[in-house]
Amino acid sequence: MKLTHLTDTHLVEPDQILYGLNPLERLNLAVASINSLPADAEQVVITGDLTHWGQLGAHHALHSSLAELKPAYTLILGNHDNRELFRNVFSDALEDENGFVQGVRETDVGQFLFLDTNQSGTHSGWYCANRLHWLREQLVRSPDTPKSIFMHHPPFNVGLEPMDRIGLVQRDEFLQVVRPYLGSVRHLFFGHVHRPISGSWHGVAFSTLRGTNHQIWLNF
Ligand SMILES: [Fe+2]
Repeated sequence: MKLTHLTDTHLVEPDQILYGLNPLERLNLAVASINSLPADAEQVVITGDLTHWGQLGAHHALHSSLAELKPAYTLILGNHDNRELFRNVFSDALEDENGFVQGVRETDVGQFLFLDTNQSGTHSGWYCANRLHWLREQLVRSPDTPKSIFMHHPPFNVGLEPMDRIGLVQRDEFLQVVRPYLGSVRHLFFGHVHRPISGSWHGVAFSTLRGTNHQIWLNF
């Protein structure tokens, strides 16, 4: 199975510039590139910070751009996103019983778990008791099925101090919930840090990548 991972598209109003670049033009280039590949990618996942300021026009631009994608796509939220506006535009998005943009998709290579670490009012990642409960339920339900986890915030420090300062707040609670099931987690995908980084975390392979618009400086 082939999956295309994009992250941190940070769209603004279509004619606006962000850090000297037009995020929509950058996303459109990515969409055209994906479409030009042999059509064997089963799906595209964008791991949050879909928009920069959560503007309505940015969401509409995102919707129009992604409508051109040949593979199916799944979106999750980052710290820059606005859940309510997102839902207004993407009415068929993932939704758990508490209204978070979370869900499970069954694929040929196991389950994809999509998590929502957005919390209004903070750039840090948030995984509250309701979300932890939801995640535990999914894991208990099929403990041995191979899984891939997608989330915006990494559940650990990556070594880039400005990003680590706005990392996942409930990382200890998160680890406690997933730890018994890590043997069945094949990969952890996240965004947020705007750098290509890979490694392993408690034996689980992880990767993240540059945003489609701006990058974060490499400074340890
Ligand atoms: Fe971002």
